[in-house]
Amino acid sequence: MSFVPANEGISKLKPYQPGKPISELERELGITDIVKLASNENPLGCSDQVKQAVAAELAEIGRYPDGGGFILKDQICAQFGVTADCITLGNGSNDLLEMFARAFVSSSDSVVYSQHAFAVYALVTQAINAQAIEVPAKGFAHDLDAMAAAIQDNTKLIFIANPNNPTGTWFEEAEFEAFMQKVPASVIVVLDEAYVEYFPENFNSLKFLAQYPNIIVSRTLSKCYGLAALRVGFALASKQVTDFLNRIRQPFNVNHLAMVAAVAALKDEDFIEQSRIVNKAGMNQLEQGFQSLGLDYVASRANFILVDVQADAAQTFNALLKEGVIVRPVGIANHLRVSIGTETENAKFLSALAKVLDLASNTVEGKA
Ligand SMILES: Cc1ncc(COP(=O)(O)O)c(C=O)c1O
Repeated sequence: MSFVPANEGISKLKPYQPGKPISELERELGITDIVKLASNENPLGCSDQVKQAVAAELAEIGRYPDGGGFILKDQICAQFGVTADCITLGNGSNDLLEMFARAFVSSSDSVVYSQHAFAVYALVTQAINAQAIEVPAKGFAHDLDAMAAAIQDNTKLIFIANPNNPTGTWFEEAEFEAFMQKVPASVIVVLDEAYVEYFPENFNSLKFLAQYPNIIVSRTLSKCYGLAALRVGFALASKQVTDFLNRIRQPFNVNHLAMVAAVAALKDEDFIEQSRIVNKAGMNQLEQGFQSLGLDYVASRANFILVDVQADAAQTFNALLKEGVIVRPVGIANHLRVSIGTETENAKFLSALAKVLDLASNTVEGKA
């Protein structure tokens, strides 16, 4: 058999490792009652209005979706005060992240992103065989000053996540303003706001978008809106940037049921509010649990938290699997990322963690 070489970037690429699905663990260990806190999904699922909207459109499955995404763009325009020619729809925001790189970066260019940033930034950069400039994090957070200083003549794009996954760290508007003033207007800055709905008071990206035509704001319906399975994301950018993105977008990249669901999800503000409340309560529960166990964690403004398990991350992850709890090793020594679940899920995780780390005597109950 003859060897067919892939492009240089792709041949060196290590594929993205998604969180382990519940069904896989059920098959492997023959156990049920599994808690998955591995992919930053909404533990409430999705809004009932989404389910009703999808059910009402099932008969449309035989038809191609509207390639222009009219109904979804219309809702985004109404909600975010933008015009349709500033919107690019994605099959999840991963689809968009790839489009950004393909549209603006060639193999002789470089892309800047932070250490401990979302894994897909490195993957899309590598896939086009561009130079990756990974800037050391400050603590666990993006070092925006160092990132601005790392820009080279051949830098075309910068990926920034606020808050960042997997660390949950964030930055304030003043820091971002200072950063943007240092970035040449010819460099695209992707502001990835996959988790922005959880702490919306933190940052007004749309204000920056109006001020800087080189910014792309990337959003997803997979997290707080609870549509991870349906794959919907959208990007907001200048008309010119949006035009380039839509030239390479697959014509039917967002399917009809996903669009209908996204419209219903965007409209259901009560569900988002409820999701925020559950997330804040769950975050407190995990923080207090870690404190009781004597474990450090990284303060987070997302729907997950990075905890220092003071032990080998892979071994702890595997031991938790045997207890029926799926979390996520993220390539940071001794740390695991845990998505915020329901109160019951969080409690199951905390007691499994205490057990596998042999810290049961540190728990509040143990001390009593
Ligand atoms: C920072 C960040 N950006 C983008 C994504 C992609 O999400 P999706 O493709 O489901 O929209 C994720 C998912 O984990 C993420 O954490």
